[in-house]
Amino acid sequence: MNNVISAYREEGEEPEEKSLRPQRTSDFVGQTRVIENLSLFVEAARKRGEPLDHVLLFGPPGLGKTTLAHIIANEMGSDIKCTSGPVIERKDDLAAILTDLKQGDVLFIDEIHRLNRIVEECLYPAMEDFKIDILIGEGPHAKSIKLDLPPFTLVGATTRAGMITSPLRTRFGITERLQFYTQDEMEHIVRRAAGILNVQTDTEGGSEIARRARGTPRISNRILRRVRDYAEVRGAGHIDRKTADEALRLLDVDKIGLDVMDRVYLKTIIEKFGGGPVGLNNVAVGIGEDEETIEDMIEPYLIQIGFLQRTPRGRQATSAAYTHLGIPEPPNRNPLA
Ligand SMILES: Nc1ncnc2c1ncn2[C@@H]1O[C@H](COP(=O)(O)OP(=O)(O)OP(=O)(O)O)[C@@H](O)[C@H]1O
Ligand SMILES: [Mg+2]
Repeated sequence: MNNVISAYREEGEEPEEKSLRPQRTSDFVGQTRVIENLSLFVEAARKRGEPLDHVLLFGPPGLGKTTLAHIIANEMGSDIKCTSGPVIERKDDLAAILTDLKQGDVLFIDEIHRLNRIVEECLYPAMEDFKIDILIGEGPHAKSIKLDLPPFTLVGATTRAGMITSPLRTRFGITERLQFYTQDEMEHIVRRAAGILNVQTDTEGGSEIARRARGTPRISNRILRRVRDYAEVRGAGHIDRKTADEALRLLDVDKIGLDVMDRVYLKTIIEKFGGGPVGLNNVAVGIGEDEETIEDMIEPYLIQIGFLQRTPRGRQATSAAYTHLGIPEPPNRNPLA
């Protein structure tokens, strides 16, 4: 069982990332509505002396789902156990995790859309009635017994709301969607992180990093560390607009924060497929990335800033994308609605 839990990892997480992670709702910047709702539900649950209802968090990578799961546990005064959908391969793995929980614990399942069907079905009675069926013995003598579980809170995270089956989705009492952060919020996040990393950053340097991080704290944290490296080696150690800009240019992050992958993706749609509409599978082959990565990591932000539309006939680049890339838009191109 332990390996199921420990096999869970934070992708690409650097050691310092842990210290940057807000621990309480009061350190968490932005997502105001989500925080307001969660605080209310937590307070109510605490007053009743009950565990919080199950929570489903969804939104693009790096916006704070894992962070919020930990915050929920902290605010409830509970312990948290973390695992992830693809790691729980068999019913037994799930049973081992569930029977190890204590009253009021938070169980965090990342990438919950990747649970397999058998495990998922086993999770339903656990969520609903805090019961689990386990099989004792083997072959003809095997017996199924129902085991009571201590009431717990499941926090599920997913980048794909659309891939959660409806029986699973309806078993969550609370569902919150995370949004990309605004420029103001990103500036606040960069300031906070610079303080924790103890790197002197002036207002303009901070706002440059904030503007070029695709509305995503994980990206601003990463950029901040790379800009700090640059400032320490090539500059005077502190971050101003000039060092931020130079370092970001080396990282190939453009003025509005698009990186190489974003630009290759847009250029492929524009140059190979006449701007679209084009099916995701064709673009995926065109750039040699899998569809899931494109849908999770690239498209949400491009849609958010109005560079991309998902139409019933496929992906389509908007005029704004042509303008940004400096590619003239053919006059007879399919006009976007
Ligand atoms: N609201 C916030 N304020 C400050 N920092 C934040 C905030 N949200 C996230 N972060 C920072 O961004 C990092 C990434 O957040 P987190 O790991 O919670 O994202 P995630 O949504 O779980 O992403 P993934 O889907 O990739 O697992 C955190 O380590 C934390 O430092
Ligand atoms: Mg996460």
